[in-house]
Amino acid sequence: MIVLGIETSCDETSVSLVEGGCNVISNVVASQIDLHRHYGGVVPEIASRAHLEAMIPVLREATSEFGGEKPDAIAVTVGPGLVGSLAVGVSFAKGLSWSWKLPMVGVNHVEAHTYAPMLEGKLPPFPFLALVVSGGHTLLALIPSVGRMEIVGETQDDALGEAFDKVSIYLGTGYPGGPVIDALSREGNPAKVRFPRPMKGSGNYNFSFSGLKTAVIRYVEKASSRDELPGNADIAASFQEAALEVVVEKTVHAAAELGIGHVVAAGGVACNKRLRDWLEERCGGEGIEVIFPSPQYCTDNAAMVAGLGFLLLEKGITTGLGVDVFPGLKPGEPVPS
Ligand code: KG4
Ligand code: ZN
Repeated sequence: MIVLGIETSCDETSVSLVEGGCNVISNVVASQIDLHRHYGGVVPEIASRAHLEAMIPVLREATSEFGGEKPDAIAVTVGPGLVGSLAVGVSFAKGLSWSWKLPMVGVNHVEAHTYAPMLEGKLPPFPFLALVVSGGHTLLALIPSVGRMEIVGETQDDALGEAFDKVSIYLGTGYPGGPVIDALSREGNPAKVRFPRPMKGSGNYNFSFSGLKTAVIRYVEKASSRDELPGNADIAASFQEAALEVVVEKTVHAAAELGIGHVVAAGGVACNKRLRDWLEERCGGEGIEVIFPSPQYCTDNAAMVAGLGFLLLEKGITTGLGVDVFPGLKPGEPVPS
């Protein structure tokens, strides 16, 4: 079965064709980063309009090699995300489903991130633990079977990617901040500033990154007033170390306490080199396998939507053409049909 996936929940317009849930025929992603950079974050109104403009060219490119053949089904992200952005993708999916007379299935975006490894034949057996770290979400969840996601812990305020983005904007090093801080940190000293490790000893698996971001700002203010400010690379590396230490430790402890042998790390921040190395090392030491999708499948993409869509369709799950969008859909919440 060939599934055409559509993803427009935030600022990436993406269309993908995936065969059998694992063979990626095409995965085209049009990023809007250049449109939002000036504002230091995603502007919802600009995002929906950009999706509208990009949708047809992206679909054309994704299906160009396919010789005009129809796929067998459509999978589309229906939430969580920006309401206007989601509406563009869902309306488009409905149009294709209606005119091509194909079944359609609505997909939960956060859940789709956790299935990205299947695109490279790396999906572990159930149950596995998922760490989702992106610009909009930071959580640990137990995945017992397709369509189910039990939250083990989540951020109480900012998402991890959001903290990277805000710290980078504050340091004047650019947007999106994740890749910049990742690169800068490789040249910095992570022990230069001892920032707080928020909620490390909280006794649960929740996170908080807003206070850490404020701690960086306070530190920079104080150090510059004393003329003792280290370079951005040291500040970036010290911030990254503090944030990732909490994420790595909580992930390893959750897996050990739940007796889970496989961890999938997904979402944009899972591209981070230090996170990949550190989690690999800590999990390896505990006999836990950690699986990272390739970076192109960590950040938002339609192939992961087609992948999860395939598994849902295999279970006989479809979504009617009357489906709404669900901007506040909870990570484990099934899509209302
Ligand atoms: O998954 P994603 O593409 O979109 C959301 O669903 O949010 O994640 C985007 C986030 C941004 O905050 C970006 O700064 C962060 O992922 N990110 C990174 C890296 N690459 C992207 N954060 C840390 N290190 C990276 N290498
Ligand atoms: Zn995402």
